[in-house]
Amino acid sequence: ERSDALPRDLEGRRVVVSAGGTREPLDPVRFLGNRSSGKQGYAMARVAAQRGAQVTLIAGNTIGLEPPAAVEVVHVTTAEQMGTAVDKHSAGADAVIMAAAVADFRPVNVAAAKIKKGAHEPNSIELTKNRDILAGLVQARRDGQLGGLAIVGFAAETGDEHGDVLTHARAKLARKGCDLLVVNAVGDGKAFEVDNNDGWLLGADGTEQSLDHGSKALLASRVLDALGPLLR
Ligand code: CTP
Ligand code: CA
Repeated sequence: ERSDALPRDLEGRRVVVSAGGTREPLDPVRFLGNRSSGKQGYAMARVAAQRGAQVTLIAGNTIGLEPPAAVEVVHVTTAEQMGTAVDKHSAGADAVIMAAAVADFRPVNVAAAKIKKGAHEPNSIELTKNRDILAGLVQARRDGQLGGLAIVGFAAETGDEHGDVLTHARAKLARKGCDLLVVNAVGDGKAFEVDNNDGWLLGADGTEQSLDHGSKALLASRVLDALGPLLR
């Protein structure tokens, strides 16, 4: 979409977007990571800025994306750093959009020196759970700390023996307590590392909208269209 064709409906709004994947170190040269490219989050940030918002992008690892024009970019590595940055920039913001793929777990021990083969080689990695940044924002808002901040989550789901993509997504929206959940079906080359995306947009008010297949910028626009009425 051309930016001159976009509405300036987010003028005067402050929006925080997280994007990319976090990396959890094992030792100075190794980490646990994920396949998030950062493209969808960067598109969210770029389109929000084109629509007039003052945007802070909290960026984890990406495939080397160009920083979007007129967006403040804060680079982080780990989930913990991402949580600290999101919390800091959410104070006074109108909306937070958590498009990042935050690692659910991190290694309990981070070796100070490179882990070597030989007598002391490990045969397993002990993990501990990372804090849920999105759930923390919802809780802070409930506690009255974040004013009328609007909160958007993303979920990449696959169907399994317990249910299809939408069933999992509805349960996640209820569990997370965010205002909107952007749902992408993953697997079979979908969503990760590709330029196009589709899925569903679920609202806490029970509304469900399918997002037509198209560019990540187009999907970003649809999400921002739904976000507008939720802003205080
Ligand atoms: N998220 C977060 N902090 C975490 C994990 C996830 O803020 N530690 C956010 C993601 O940025 C995303 C949303 O929560 O917006 C949903 O992430 P997802 O991984 O789908 O949800 P989880 O609750 O981690 O559930 P699952 O067990 O399916 O991974
Ligand atoms: Ca997760």
